[in-house]
Amino acid sequence: MASLAARVTRMPIFRASLPSRQPFSRSLATRATSYKLNTGAKIPALGFGTFQDSDSQEETVSRALQKGMRLIDTARVYNVEEEVGRGIKKSGVPREDVFLGTKLWCNDYHPDDVERALDDSLRDLDTPYVDLLLMHYPCTFKRGSDRFPRDSNGRMIHGETTYVETWRAMENLIKTGKVKAIGVSNFSKGEIETLIRETSTVPAVHQMETHPYLQQKGFNEWLRSKGIHVIQFSPLGNMNDFYRQTGWSKSIAHMMRVIDQPVLKEIGQKYGKSPVQVVLACGINSGRSVIPKSVVDWQIEENLEADFELQPEDMAQIATLDAQARFNDPSLDYEWRLYSDLEGIDGTMRGKTH
Ligand SMILES: NC(=O)c1ccc[n+]([C@@H]2O[C@H](COP(=O)([O-])OP(=O)(O)OC[C@H]3O[C@@H](n4cnc5c(N)ncnc54)[C@H](OP(=O)(O)O)[C@@H]3O)[C@@H](O)[C@H]2O)c1
Repeated sequence: MASLAARVTRMPIFRASLPSRQPFSRSLATRATSYKLNTGAKIPALGFGTFQDSDSQEETVSRALQKGMRLIDTARVYNVEEEVGRGIKKSGVPREDVFLGTKLWCNDYHPDDVERALDDSLRDLDTPYVDLLLMHYPCTFKRGSDRFPRDSNGRMIHGETTYVETWRAMENLIKTGKVKAIGVSNFSKGEIETLIRETSTVPAVHQMETHPYLQQKGFNEWLRSKGIHVIQFSPLGNMNDFYRQTGWSKSIAHMMRVIDQPVLKEIGQKYGKSPVQVVLACGINSGRSVIPKSVVDWQIEENLEADFELQPEDMAQIATLDAQARFNDPSLDYEWRLYSDLEGIDGTMRGKTH
């Protein structure tokens, strides 16, 4: 199982060079790395996030696909599935050439709700299947249409079922053909161990926050040993203003932006690449997928040129940036201790999103 996730396909391809504002010394060929999931399916290393900017998503998803992206990450709770679906159609890229993943939200975790929730996503995405369905967080909220159900004191109302029961319902979806693979997001090691112990399907994917400030080397190695492929969210660290606004990680969100670290610029100069590209390449060279979000054309193009080989000494330099800084931690907001056995839980502050 472990060797499957580690199997890598790399095809050198040449894409259009970056706009002239980038003073690069030379341009490297960009690869199109993909990995094999424990289901046998292929997943691209480079992908595209769709959280926020719903008004732009139809257009940007379409353009990102036309430019060469083949992995699209979305979620029920982002409220963009209709836009994403229209973007895929508009791009002209055949559905079977796109790896499309979405996520089940916490108010739909009751086993009797799971298939209906998936059907809602499929309807909005206008597709008969998704390549990946993730459980967005391990915490369960009260059943019903309210995505963030709170009592009169503003306290989150949790659901009565557990993520294990939800997972079993997700396992059943595989047989319907409406879902090709299932996985989790924002789980602790202990929570994944529970799934492996108590159910019959090892998650194909764990989508989690990973970047140079939060490297989680031990956890990443453990996931690899279990054959669980990692998709890095917020791969650029604290680039997203959301983290400065929510208060989830107020005490650390104002750290120097990852991409402003001088060492990344130095490394980039050796390859004719930008710090953003070095950060994304670091994830890919570690055997993971990365899903940067952008609604800006030149940024999407820059991100597409980020699949290149980094020398071991440069990977070692990037490793020194680890600060165990976790920016995405809604534990107090959701009233569920997330990431309990993982690194980087010190930055949590109370900060409500809804
Ligand atoms: N599973 C989860 O719980 C979870 C949590 C968070 C995120 N995600 C997924 O991961 C995706 C990415 O996460 P994220 O948005 O938090 O972080 P991110 O992709 O690391 O950062 C996004 C920010 O970086 C900017 N950016 C992107 N490419 C750039 C470039 N080449 N140069 C300069 N700036 C660039 C974007 O700008 P513009 O927007 O202005 O273009 C945006 O402000 C999300 O869209 C979502 O799909 C999942």
